Amino acid sequence: MCFPLSSIAKKQIVAVTGLMLIVFVIAHLAGNLTMFGGPTVFNAYAATYDKFRPWFNYVEYGLLGVFLVHIFFTAWVVIENIKARGGLNRYAVDKPVGRRSLATRLMPYSGTYILFFVVWHIFDFTFSDKHGLRSYIGAQSFGLYGVVFNAFANPWHSGLYILAVCFLGLHLAHGVDSTVQTFGLNHPRYTPLLMRVSRYFALLMVIGYSAIPLYVLYLVR
Ligand code: HEM
Repeated sequence: MCFPLSSIAKKQIVAVTGLMLIVFVIAHLAGNLTMFGGPTVFNAYAATYDKFRPWFNYVEYGLLGVFLVHIFFTAWVVIENIKARGGLNRYAVDKPVGRRSLATRLMPYSGTYILFFVVWHIFDFTFSDKHGLRSYIGAQSFGLYGVVFNAFANPWHSGLYILAVCFLGLHLAHGVDSTVQTFGLNHPRYTPLLMRVSRYFALLMVIGYSAIPLYVLYLVR
């Protein structure tokens, strides 16, 4: 590709869009935790989405744009790195494979799984019929709460979500590390602290998101 953009500029775009997606991940978890409040609370939260339409549609388009830019530039950086190494098998990076963290080594897999997960997830919930068969618990429709509840009542469905969330945690932990390197933030005291905080943050997201399917599985046990 001959688009005049330095490698560092591309990495900065990946980092900035990644940080924007982190804001979404936090807000989305905060909203989803209303599942613990039961159908009335959760459906009231979901209804606020509809209350602010069509404005909320623009936020969703923006989010989709940020997501696509993040993926596009990540792919570009990865392809350039592979080319610079002279192919997939020739490893000429500064750290030997054994010294790279698990999160780093799993980055291509975690990113790909999250990509497929998000597409599936949108069809699963956003485009679901919120008053159709999947919304029924017993003889009554519980709207979007019912759709989410029935999805997570299936251990396989829950398992695939929890796997996605674990990958998301690894992705977040590594993402913050890369951002720190990309912007050359090397403070002897604050950089290690930021890395540690990012790991706790990633763990908190994993626990928060996984708690929802686990809670439903507990209710239907
Ligand atoms: C237990 C975990 C999760 C639950 C219960 C959940 C729930 C939901 C629900 C109910 C919707 C549809 C909202 C609506 O149409 O009114 C939705 C949309 C969405 N979720 Fe999740 N989600 C979970 C995890 C995730 C994760 C881990 C990600 C990202 C990595 C994610 C990204 C999205 C996106 C991009 C949308 C579409 C945005 C939108 O409709 O506004 N979700 N989620």
